[in-house]
Amino acid sequence: MPEPRDDARSPIISDVIPAHGYDKQQVLAQMESFRHRDADWHKGRTWSLVYSAGDEHSAFLKQAHNLFFSENGLNPMAFKSLKRFETDTVAALVKLLHGPETAVGTLNSGGTESILLAMHTYRERSRRTKPWVRTPEVVLPTTAHPAFDKAAHYFGIRLRKAPIGPDFRVDVAALRRLINRNTAAVVVSAPHYCQGVVDPVEEVAAITRAKSIPLHVDACVGGLMLPWVERLGWPVPLWDFRVDGVTSISADLHKYGYAAKGASVVLYRSMDYLKDQFFVATDWPGGVYASANIPGTRPGGPIAAAWATLMAIGEDGYLELTRQALDVREKLIAGVRATPGVHVMGEPVGTLVTFGSDDEKALPIFAVADLLAEKGWHLDRHQNPNCIHATCSAGNVQSVDEFVEDMQWAVSEVRANPALAEQGDAAMYGMMAKVPARGLVKYTVRRVMEAMYAPGAVEPDLQGVTSSDPVLRKLDEYGSLVLGAVGKARERVEKALGR
Ligand SMILES: Cc1ncc(COP(=O)(O)O)c(C=O)c1O
Repeated sequence: MPEPRDDARSPIISDVIPAHGYDKQQVLAQMESFRHRDADWHKGRTWSLVYSAGDEHSAFLKQAHNLFFSENGLNPMAFKSLKRFETDTVAALVKLLHGPETAVGTLNSGGTESILLAMHTYRERSRRTKPWVRTPEVVLPTTAHPAFDKAAHYFGIRLRKAPIGPDFRVDVAALRRLINRNTAAVVVSAPHYCQGVVDPVEEVAAITRAKSIPLHVDACVGGLMLPWVERLGWPVPLWDFRVDGVTSISADLHKYGYAAKGASVVLYRSMDYLKDQFFVATDWPGGVYASANIPGTRPGGPIAAAWATLMAIGEDGYLELTRQALDVREKLIAGVRATPGVHVMGEPVGTLVTFGSDDEKALPIFAVADLLAEKGWHLDRHQNPNCIHATCSAGNVQSVDEFVEDMQWAVSEVRANPALAEQGDAAMYGMMAKVPARGLVKYTVRRVMEAMYAPGAVEPDLQGVTSSDPVLRKLDEYGSLVLGAVGKARERVEKALGR
């Protein structure tokens, strides 16, 4: 059964527009009460989704945001203030990422929009410069963010995915083999979200430069983190516009820029690329309509707050926040390394850390994640290989010691009882990660989404959906048998191939 709606206990009936509005204080109080089952980011218990630079900074951001709460970035002629914020923010990021004087870009609503725009731009460029190509292709590592799959889905681009090596960085030789006359662009990440490692940008750029193919670096998570990590003296391979051949970069202000949510940039080496991003409709009776980004109406708040955050934090502030995030990373890595049975995956260059089990049978890592979730920690679970992901930020300074203690406790609990993996979310995540027929996984997740958006649905009931669907019930019945056999066969094949 799904959880009852929060407002079942409330004096406000909230699923209809009330005939007469409620008292505003009552509405606000009701909203606050809805929070009680949310992830608790205030106390540093979230290891993704929220990047906090403290309460004082949040209060300032809200002020900056609210100053431009009603303004609309759709028309830069009407709101020149917002255009100024955008121009300044783009210019500041171009300088941070060592762009040439010709570099340009736009401020967008988030990483996904920046990526969608870049991919759309390269599709348009391909149509303009290589009109004989019927389906433009983009070559990228399997670890690139799903926003690229979304772009391919929306814009009719074909993706060709290159495998990663044992260090979780893209296999450059394999990537090179996927490039052909249809290639509209190549993508790498700095770093990718999966294991926090930076792809070999210089090596890939040498290939794309020689073939005159655009190269996009997805630095949504790293764009406002790696530059400070580098300045603090940690080794960071070159990845930004200093690398000849990098033609565009996506970088989010609402992650390690500690801005309000809804702010990211896409930067291009020159207008020769950005011009393909623009959209113009000339014949609408409402007038000529021009737009550089995906949305129509663009809320002024996040644009203003993006500018404000750069101005208020400053270089010294970012260095200090990054120092704190790196301290968290170091404590987490030391904690994992001191815990028998688990290991850090790859060599994280920045502040993203993932850890997995040395032996999934003896110590299934998703069961560890379940126990941590029960203690109120919000973490991401990754697959291929199964692991737990932690995005370390300044907001986790207060909680990292407690987290390491809880993680060590959870690991020893699961080691004593690996059957914990057969219960709760661990069972479902484990099954999702293992099912070889990915179409079936897609089917399941789509069913969950249908349940989530059904009339009146408030939150997904994962167990409910999986146990009520006949296909999934069968999978559950026969699943472990089939999966066991497929898993063994795969192990044998991989052994034979010497992997
Ligand atoms: C590397 C990378 N690219 C893109 C994105 C997508 O960003 P957003 O969630 O702001 O759309 C993320 C989000 O975590 C990311 O880590």
